[in-house]
Amino acid sequence: MRGPVPRRGRALRELGIIRDGAMLVRDDRILAVGKRRKIERLREARQAQKLELGGRVALPGFIDSHTHLGFPCSRAGEYEQRISGKTYREIAQAGGGIRATVNAVRRCSQRTLAERASAHLREFAAHGTTTIEAKSGYGLDWTNELKILCTVQQLHQDQPLDIVQTFLGAHVLPAEYRTCADAFVDLLVRAWIPTVATAGLAEFCDVFCDRGAFSVTQARRILRAARACGLVPRIHAEQFARTGGARLAIEVQAASADHLEKINRSDVRALALSNVVCTLLPGCSFHLGLPLYAPARELIDAGAIVALATDFNPGTSPTVSLPMILSLACAQLRMTPAETIAAATINPAYSLRQHGRVGSLEAGKYADFSVFDVTDYREIPYYFGVNLCSLTMKRGVIIHSKKP
Ligand code: NIG
Ligand code: FE
Repeated sequence: MRGPVPRRGRALRELGIIRDGAMLVRDDRILAVGKRRKIERLREARQAQKLELGGRVALPGFIDSHTHLGFPCSRAGEYEQRISGKTYREIAQAGGGIRATVNAVRRCSQRTLAERASAHLREFAAHGTTTIEAKSGYGLDWTNELKILCTVQQLHQDQPLDIVQTFLGAHVLPAEYRTCADAFVDLLVRAWIPTVATAGLAEFCDVFCDRGAFSVTQARRILRAARACGLVPRIHAEQFARTGGARLAIEVQAASADHLEKINRSDVRALALSNVVCTLLPGCSFHLGLPLYAPARELIDAGAIVALATDFNPGTSPTVSLPMILSLACAQLRMTPAETIAAATINPAYSLRQHGRVGSLEAGKYADFSVFDVTDYREIPYYFGVNLCSLTMKRGVIIHSKKP
């Protein structure tokens, strides 16, 4: 895959497949990509160590541009409650949901948090992902937001995957501020956001803008403050109710508007005319058992920039598997297999402002790629519920291999 960034409309399905291809890697970078015959003839290829992939499919490492990596335990009990008929909102109103994970984070040590996140990162790599975004947002007081941000920053140094950080102090109102929302927004705007930005703990700032979370007015204040401090806005928008978050994303020139299940036709047109990446998260509707998915076809056909991500989190989408998200995107969002691949590589790289380094297999970019045990790329979403990723390379180093 090479060519234009970001991908809109028809360009989303142009993968630039090279049959019988090869790639020459030196240190952490790609030196050349092309037909095997051509690559093997290059002078630098003569002393190269050969990694024979035997007719399998190699593609850019997946870029997961929406995850909530820092949490210590599942909410499997709530999963069972929902299956028995309780809604996500009812559980949240009864003190469960995001606040349950917040309580768990506040009780757990930095070490436990790091161990759980590392285990998850190994699984991301095993499913072909080489770069992820990670949001804070399960601390919701300064000590614990900092605990998540510092843990993840350390993990970025200590393990192979690249992690791009997003500050999500505005995930929900912490219980302490239930009756004084504006005081919490003041705290974010005046203290937390400037400190996170100055300390270099995040590149992006996100808000959960929805019914039961933050209003558009509150989100606007938060994202404007973030922008003023040099943090680029992202937003959770229009997942459970259409509140105007997508329009706000355009207004504040957010890098990404995520979810978008409830947008209407005019939102689709407005997003298509903008540079906001529409990050769709079909794992949520699947896991919550909800019938409504984002209008991916309309967005793509109107010319919007569409990306796919896991939304890995303990409440609505407990999966690290982008291949599974690709299967859901084909079946439920009616995206073609080719579109799902571009939406999980080059477009999310753009939304994380990493497209100069990753997201496609081109000379000069990092040697980040995954290999799947299939002979046709369409088999990646076609087979579901099984992990066919047999090798993952990150910056020239094999970080996952099924065969010894
Ligand atoms: O993206 N919507 C807000 N945040 C998560 C859910 C988090 C949780 O339930 O723990 C999401 O779906
Ligand atoms: Fe999320």
